[in-house]
Amino acid sequence: MPPVPADSASIERAGAIIRSGGLVAFPTETVYGLGADATNGAAVARIFEAKGRPRFNPLIVHVATLDQARCLATFSALAERLAAAFWPGPLTLVLPRRGGSELSELVTAGLDSVGLRMPGHDVARALIAAAGKPLAAPSANRSGHVSPTTAAHVADDLAGRVDMILDGGACRHGVESTVVTADGESVALLRPGAIAAADIERVCGVALRRALDGGDAPVSPGQLASHYAPHTRLIMNVTSPQQESALLAFGARVPDHTGPVINLSASGDLIEAAARLFSALRELDSAGAGLIEVMPIPDDGLGEAINDRLRRAAADR
Ligand code: TXA
Ligand code: MG
Repeated sequence: MPPVPADSASIERAGAIIRSGGLVAFPTETVYGLGADATNGAAVARIFEAKGRPRFNPLIVHVATLDQARCLATFSALAERLAAAFWPGPLTLVLPRRGGSELSELVTAGLDSVGLRMPGHDVARALIAAAGKPLAAPSANRSGHVSPTTAAHVADDLAGRVDMILDGGACRHGVESTVVTADGESVALLRPGAIAAADIERVCGVALRRALDGGDAPVSPGQLASHYAPHTRLIMNVTSPQQESALLAFGARVPDHTGPVINLSASGDLIEAAARLFSALRELDSAGAGLIEVMPIPDDGLGEAINDRLRRAAADR
């Protein structure tokens, strides 16, 4: 479907699509984003499916106001200062996720932190306001393709995989936002981007820790975004579970089991399974069983990303 010029009527319609769990591509000042309701796990799962990503990584959550951001994460004094200096604009702050916030576990890939940004594009903020929800949004391209900076790029890459494309013209920056963590009085650069590190340092009054600093600096962005894994031992592809284990089930044919059981999707729906994966792992991890056994999950579509995460959880001890 062709891109729709962004005006107040199309933005209202786009907001309704987001509220009903759909995907809307929208302009930001950096690149076009592929947006979904960040509080709706199935909607977030559709983002990964549409991009064809083979693994789950934490997505940036876009907000329209500072109050909305403060409901989702805890701001240190330094984080407040950075937001005051650069929002709205291309700075993403990775902050401690607020307990009890409505964010889906999938949007943060199970982590206790969340990446937040308030985009510096009027259409983006108007869409968030129209939806009345924070928006999870990676760049609106297929996995491995270049980030789109026009609505036409999005249409070329994601035709048929997105419910609406809002056209707000070409993106001003053309590169993604700069990502930093600001915990206490220290700031670390996780991803270079549209705001120069020197400009951030000027506001902080301290040097940014970087991947290459060594010492106690974060070793790599990948490591800081490090994945959630359960503490309990986990094994995959189990068809005859032990009775004392915790069982992560999938599909309609679940063996009788006396230990705790969570079914990722009784109907075998991989979108539902992806949406529930991280919260299910947390719940089974705290159930007190010595072992989590996982039933076989098909490796097609989102199953590839689900199995990738389970495989790493199984290897992670
Ligand atoms: O410019 C942008 O930021 C674009 C536009 C659409 O706003 N969005 C974007 O989103 O690039 P995304 O979801 O693809 O960015 C993901 C990156 C991760 O690679 C990671 O560096 C960082 O954001 N990130 C997000 N949440 C994180 C977290 N909880 N911990 C560590 N890093 C996180
Ligand atoms: Mg991207």
